Amino acid sequence: MTSDFLVIGSGVAGLSFAIKAAQHGTVTVITKGELMNSNTAWAQGGISAVLPEGLRDPNDDCAKHIDDTLDAGGGLCHHDAVQIIVEEAAETIEELVAWGTEFDRDHEEPERYSLGKEGGHSERRILHAKDTTGREIATSLVETARKTKNITLLENHYAVDLITTGKLGSVTDDRVLGAYVLEIATGKVHTFESSRVILATGGCGKVYLYTTNPDSATGDGLAMAWRAGATISNMEFVQFHPTCFYNPAANGPEARSFLVSEAVRGEGAVLINHKGREFVTDHDPRGSLAPRDIVARAIDTEIKRTGAPCVFLDVSPLGNHFSERFPFIHETLLTYGHDATKKPIPVVPAAHYQCGGVVTDLQGKTTIRGLYAIGEVACTGLHGANRLASNSLLEGNVMARRALDAIMKAFPPGKEALSAPEIRSWESGDAAPPDELVNIYHNWDELRRTMQDYVSIVRTDNRLLRASRRLINLRKEVREFYWGNCVTPEILELRNLVTTASLIIDSALQRKESRGSHHTLDYPETKEACKKDTLLRRF
Ligand code: SIN
Repeated sequence: MTSDFLVIGSGVAGLSFAIKAAQHGTVTVITKGELMNSNTAWAQGGISAVLPEGLRDPNDDCAKHIDDTLDAGGGLCHHDAVQIIVEEAAETIEELVAWGTEFDRDHEEPERYSLGKEGGHSERRILHAKDTTGREIATSLVETARKTKNITLLENHYAVDLITTGKLGSVTDDRVLGAYVLEIATGKVHTFESSRVILATGGCGKVYLYTTNPDSATGDGLAMAWRAGATISNMEFVQFHPTCFYNPAANGPEARSFLVSEAVRGEGAVLINHKGREFVTDHDPRGSLAPRDIVARAIDTEIKRTGAPCVFLDVSPLGNHFSERFPFIHETLLTYGHDATKKPIPVVPAAHYQCGGVVTDLQGKTTIRGLYAIGEVACTGLHGANRLASNSLLEGNVMARRALDAIMKAFPPGKEALSAPEIRSWESGDAAPPDELVNIYHNWDELRRTMQDYVSIVRTDNRLLRASRRLINLRKEVREFYWGNCVTPEILELRNLVTTASLIIDSALQRKESRGSHHTLDYPETKEACKKDTLLRRF
């Protein structure tokens, strides 16, 4: 299969790119699950934007949004990335609205949007659609993409590896030619050719036992880019969301995976401990609305200090506004048997967002020619050491436009810079089912528990090294499965998770300080000398 653009992933970044690129050439979008199964569709809170005067809060401006982003990012944000993305937010909102996204309007002045607040934001600037903003955006993008000529949408197609001019699996000589793709229904691996490949595969929350992410968040794009030789940055900065529902009645990972949006705190809910005391103010004067790294660490400390399994989110200050503004959260909690209007919500932190990723410039360009990365899989420098809430949907949509503009200038369809060498097809063509699927599930479990126990909110070198040793065996087993011709979604996901976990551990071991979402007891201070990105590349 050949197309001008090959987009891997169907969240806001991938689909927004595809819709625009389709005006210039043929676009193939592949996703390993269904189109709606993305982190985007799961986003609750919203998308941050300083709107034009008259529509925004009169106290707000881009300079404040920039300052808030820099402050949350712990000194590692790239100023140019922050400025550009913040300043292009209003335009990106217009684009989403044109594709059919309906953001909530102000009750009293319906010509204005209703603007919410979240941790680390000094003003109200979060556009939202109640508490299912991601679903609203994803639905409008999927519907638009389905109607757009020139786009082929392929669900249940899993990208196995990028094809580059280098030998597959060795150091690349820097040009992308396409990707090998597993068609899940038939087990066949096909060659998809394109000299413009856009990675928009999202994050890697499933590397941890407790995560707010959907099952699909297995670091696929990141691991593929790593294997192809792209530079990867800042993987130690895994953001933990402070408030996931803690459900002691549920057994296993589901117990801690339902997100209770930060927007709930933005509307006035407060974190308390089991004795009803507000404790986050012991750590930061902004209390429950401090940036996420601070709040997550405060909860972790409180849980360890008190021995309680969780803390609580008290939504009583919101009164009826809670169920009106957050119907999805309220109703979902009811299905778990918890009525938040009667009792505070038990919550714990869970892995939420990968702040690092495949290094790109502000046009989404990676270090491999023709390979672009946008959205959570990428590291543009916007988030630094800790992402400001609701900046991720914003980044995904802004960077989709910037990447397309760059491609159209550098090598638009029809003007291929170089002729493509012959691509060798996938060696076996057929994927054999693994004989011992149960081993894969055990390995997956072991990996996620190891990461949760040794590489989460508070780290030490010893814990990191222990995790690293455990990964050696897992890596060996994955290699045996994979090269034993075991190309199934389960083994591909495990392979990518092991790679991603290794990148997180290796990056964390390199950072001899605490900063943003990387906190280690061995180096508790933030050090000026360490104020630089961690860079990793496969040689
Ligand atoms: C939330 O709703 O709390 C998540 C928003 C985000 O991660 O930006």
